[in-house]
Amino acid sequence: MQAKEIITKKRKGLENSKDELEFLLSGFLKGEIKEYQLSAWLMAVFFQGMTEKELTHWTELMWHSGSTLPREKNVNLSKQFWIDKHSTGGVGDKVSLILVPLVRKVVEKFLGDIDIRIPMISGRGLGHTGGTLDKLESVSGFSTQLETREALDLLKDQGFFMAGQTESIAPADRRIYSLRDVTGTIESIPLIVSSIMSKKLAENLDGILFDVKTGLGAFMEKIEDSKALACGLLAVAKRQGLESVALLSQMDEPLGYKVGNFLEVEECADFLNGKKREPDLEKLVLVSSAWMIHLGSRKKVSCAEAQSMCEEVIARGEAFSIFRKMFESQNGNFQAFEEERDQFRDRYLTWDYLADCSGILSEMHARKLGVLLVELGGGRAVKEDSIDGKVGFEVFKKVGDEVKEGEPLIRVYHRSASEIENIKETLKESIKMVNPSGIPFKKTPILREVLT
Ligand code: URA
Repeated sequence: MQAKEIITKKRKGLENSKDELEFLLSGFLKGEIKEYQLSAWLMAVFFQGMTEKELTHWTELMWHSGSTLPREKNVNLSKQFWIDKHSTGGVGDKVSLILVPLVRKVVEKFLGDIDIRIPMISGRGLGHTGGTLDKLESVSGFSTQLETREALDLLKDQGFFMAGQTESIAPADRRIYSLRDVTGTIESIPLIVSSIMSKKLAENLDGILFDVKTGLGAFMEKIEDSKALACGLLAVAKRQGLESVALLSQMDEPLGYKVGNFLEVEECADFLNGKKREPDLEKLVLVSSAWMIHLGSRKKVSCAEAQSMCEEVIARGEAFSIFRKMFESQNGNFQAFEEERDQFRDRYLTWDYLADCSGILSEMHARKLGVLLVELGGGRAVKEDSIDGKVGFEVFKKVGDEVKEGEPLIRVYHRSASEIENIKETLKESIKMVNPSGIPFKKTPILREVLT
């Protein structure tokens, strides 16, 4: 077998066999197939796509390049249901931090012997999008790097863990992703699907919930592209026997009221404490949690029943203690976090952007705000950047809200006056208003579609 022949076949739009894909990947990992050869094949896939068979084989090969989270032998496995969530990422997306304690509280309170466990493996923020691990680390001491034994103990004792990817999970993906990053081959649906699913399958899950974002702040802006990605993820998950659902959700404006790691954890705490809940965030949390419970109960609990259980738990602030435990069980100092909440505002500067006319807020461009967060020091332009988790934005008006001239639209938490000078112009460009007497304004709903 020769790499050149495999590449040429793909370039012509023909199907690569399982053996050919195995030859390509194992040769690459051993250094026998060169980066320029794999890059050429990736580019051929970019233009020709993959057949269903190729996608299945390629995903399995990537997944088996590393280890799989072991399932304990001494527990009743048929009763346990392991489920995780994957979001394609956005700005202010803090759903996972709320959903995990919420679902676990519902399991404890209502579900008896229905045993839903959440081994959650998340990523860091890059570019304009935030990452769950960075948010969790706003609580000092929180450890995202868990040994397999520690992760399994947490899963056994409290029903969930929140961790970063380890070196042993799908190592082939790490190397291939770096190559895609520099060869213009990131935006290929089969390559994205195989990359995401190789890591998720390593968790040994029974089910998965996908939140595929679409819109101005999403990885894929067009609904057709987001839907194609969602269908690809679902197809691979189902072929591997996972119960799965994909939500298509709108990501035009930041989700919720706060953007920035520390501020977002604050918002999650307030949400679960019953203090303040932004309606779009609440809707997405409820739908996601309800689906997770529905799938996790092997469909014994309907989505509507699960949603009303979640509503009750939220209204009574009953998931907050698990939220706190989520940090403390992984060495996070939650008390210090609560004390810092009161103090950090004295140490950071704030600047309010005021509406320069009256009208309806029609756009708060999520991607532009995410990029501004990077400029303020709160996000990463490249993987190696360190971040200041306390800078960010507090949003006072959401798209569709009526605004009076002079009212504050957004508050910036920053570290020096010069930073505000640098971002003022882009901030202004990120926000658009329409006059209420003009064309009627209709906001796109947060939940676009549920694909099963
Ligand atoms: N996220 C991943 O894990 N892989 C991709 O290829 C794109 C987004």
